[in-house]
Amino acid sequence: MNPKIYLAPMSGVTDLAFRLISRRLGAEHCFFEMLDSKAVVYGSQKNRRLIKTIRKDSPISAQLLGADPFVMLDAAEKLIELVDISFLDINSACPVKKVIKKGAGAALLKNRAILGKIIKKLVSKLRIPVTVKLRTGFDKVDIVECVKTAEECEANGASTVFIHGRTMSQRYSGDIDYKSIKAVKESLKIPVFGSGNIFNPLMAKKMLDETGCDGILVARGALGNPWIFKNIENYLKNGENPKNQSLSAKKKILKAHLAYIEKYKDIGTANKIGFMGKVAMWYFKGHYNSTEIRRRISKVTSYEELIDLIESLFVSQRFYRIEFCGLAGRPEAKSYSNGNRKRCSQNYR
Ligand SMILES: Cc1cc2nc3c(=O)[nH]c(=O)nc-3n(C[C@H](O)[C@H](O)[C@H](O)COP(=O)(O)O)c2cc1C
Repeated sequence: MNPKIYLAPMSGVTDLAFRLISRRLGAEHCFFEMLDSKAVVYGSQKNRRLIKTIRKDSPISAQLLGADPFVMLDAAEKLIELVDISFLDINSACPVKKVIKKGAGAALLKNRAILGKIIKKLVSKLRIPVTVKLRTGFDKVDIVECVKTAEECEANGASTVFIHGRTMSQRYSGDIDYKSIKAVKESLKIPVFGSGNIFNPLMAKKMLDETGCDGILVARGALGNPWIFKNIENYLKNGENPKNQSLSAKKKILKAHLAYIEKYKDIGTANKIGFMGKVAMWYFKGHYNSTEIRRRISKVTSYEELIDLIESLFVSQRFYRIEFCGLAGRPEAKSYSNGNRKRCSQNYR
């Protein structure tokens, strides 16, 4: 078994910096952030920022949002002139209200005829493969309907189907419907990728085992944890359990991530610092005193100040760990077995 492990498309998240860090730590394939088809046709400034890339940001694909087959084709052709993409994905999964109102995103799940037309039009005119990102349903679980939608994609020429194992109504919470993904995999000849709740190697294996899918999309599991790609690969290949990242490894990758944002993100300084703060907090999730860390990060006004703060925060985490691991009388310490303390002490390199 050699499943593909891709970074999922995530609007507002998978910018050039995020992709470069994910690739450095094992992501095989990435997507640009989702692009609105009308905005691509009009050549919006924002879209030009979203398709910023560099040579090592490859292989890469793009995802288009829209409901009009002609606009989608126009957008796809314009996009292909601007960037070198491996395939073009159609978004039939976005649950945002104003998108649904326009009949796009997950609304296409309720309108298979339009979805089929969009796919057919793109497949007939483009020289690159066309794929579709689906959810398992719109507002209820219905395996038969889910399979019909996926079959419509295949019949119109889609070359891969990515399925987020939740309905539109579930948005991003609740259990993953592995049964629907499995039924789709069993009904189609084209590759099927599973998405949803892939937060660690065990959950990646669960998705693969329960559905028989050909690959997986890692989404929120990669926030502040770009090591997840290699960890999944090593676990699937050798059964190797992931190691906790040392504080120094975390600091190094967080600083590299922020440096990429500083270098490549074309937004105003205040927004950029705010965005960097959000990214930094992903890496401090679950750390001691994260509320206080968030408060201090939110006060920062420059990149240099943020880097200094991060240096000092990692020092304080290190002291906390040394102190915590050495204090047997502390109430929280009681719940730590000797094994955990040992692991804890290995962490503060
Ligand atoms: C912040 C965020 C933005 C997302 N944007 C997109 C998007 O633009 N296109 C898309 O197909 N899916 C999008 N997704 C869905 C993910 O690709 C993925 O299918 C979903 O999060 C389930 O995986 P997870 O439970 O492992 O996070 C987004 C998810 C998140 C959390």
